Amino acid sequence: MRIESARRLRDLPRNSFATTAARIDGLVRSGEDVVNLCQGNPDLPTPPHIVESLRTEVLDPATHRYGSFSGLLALKAAIAGWYATHHRVELDPETEVAILFGAKAGLVELSQCFLDPGDVCLMPDPAFPDYWAGVALAGARTHPLPLRRENAFLPDYTALDRATRERARLMFLNYPNNPASVTAPPEFYADTVRFADRHGVLVASDFAYGALSFDGEAPVSFLRADGAKEVGVEFISLSKMFNMAGWRVGAVVGNREVVAAIDLLQEHYFVSLPPFIQRAAITALTGPQDCVHELSKIYERRRDVFVSGVRDVGWDLDVPRSVFAWLPTPGGEPSVAFADALLDRAKVAVSPGRWFGGHGEGYVRVSLLAPEERLREAVARLARFR
Ligand SMILES: Cc1ncc(COP(=O)(O)O)c(C=O)c1O
Repeated sequence: MRIESARRLRDLPRNSFATTAARIDGLVRSGEDVVNLCQGNPDLPTPPHIVESLRTEVLDPATHRYGSFSGLLALKAAIAGWYATHHRVELDPETEVAILFGAKAGLVELSQCFLDPGDVCLMPDPAFPDYWAGVALAGARTHPLPLRRENAFLPDYTALDRATRERARLMFLNYPNNPASVTAPPEFYADTVRFADRHGVLVASDFAYGALSFDGEAPVSFLRADGAKEVGVEFISLSKMFNMAGWRVGAVVGNREVVAAIDLLQEHYFVSLPPFIQRAAITALTGPQDCVHELSKIYERRRDVFVSGVRDVGWDLDVPRSVFAWLPTPGGEPSVAFADALLDRAKVAVSPGRWFGGHGEGYVRVSLLAPEERLREAVARLARFR
């Protein structure tokens, strides 16, 4: 029997990271020393007090049972508390916070909740590829919002034609941006709320890197803008905040209709996260936060090592404001060919900009989630490669 998958699965884009990860694994197995700067996977461990909290919680048999469908109210309160303390944003834990299996899951679920087949979703280009996957699963279409260097990698809403503005139902934004590594100023979010309100576009702000600050400047939350909760939501993640990528804890906060819709969908997919993980996540959010500041400092030092090393070999780049460097390829060389050659000849793995959309062409993304000595080694290999 020939088993054919549904069209929605056939239309799903392949995850380029998974394919390259397999290639890198192959090289490593054959004895090559690959400097892997491809994925955004934190290399440092979760702080010990959070691990200790998990160890304690998992011993309580109450955490072995099904939890409540939408998760622990105490975790939602901890998330609301984090927003109040760090961003002066007030949230009602009962109605304005939904717990996610990592931000990734919610970013895909959102399109299924709010897009019908044929609807238009405004999509930054370049963008984190999971946004496309959700839109494809919903049978909807994307319309690009080009992020150009001359526009500080912010979308220009005035460049959209009238028909697109009227048809768009959802829009993704992501600052600090992966891959372009820039932050967004508050005025941009004020503009975004005006645009969204006028055209009835739901805003999804992906704030997965929002807890890490560079050069003493904390990233601004979209929800700080007046009226933001009327038109949108924000996604946060504990993955990068506390090196908890494997624990899969995220949240979507803001507009209560959106929160309710995500909770409804998740009621059918999951019975929220394991209770012991939720309890340890409360410890993370309500406990000492110096580990987050220390992490930002570590990333800042790594960034400085990489930027100065790359500039020393005559290669210019903008100073990253997140954990990635967005590096122009020499002479605008196609990004896939350049990244392939770099892996083949220098054994340095980076992500081609093309993976993040057509406007990512001419760049590669270099992850700074690797120890300083590996970044120095990568720079030395880049210099020889050039
Ligand atoms: C921009 C962006 N959003 C969301 C995520 C996913 O975060 P989580 O680990 O919470 O699923 C990532 C992970 O790399 C990311 O880069």
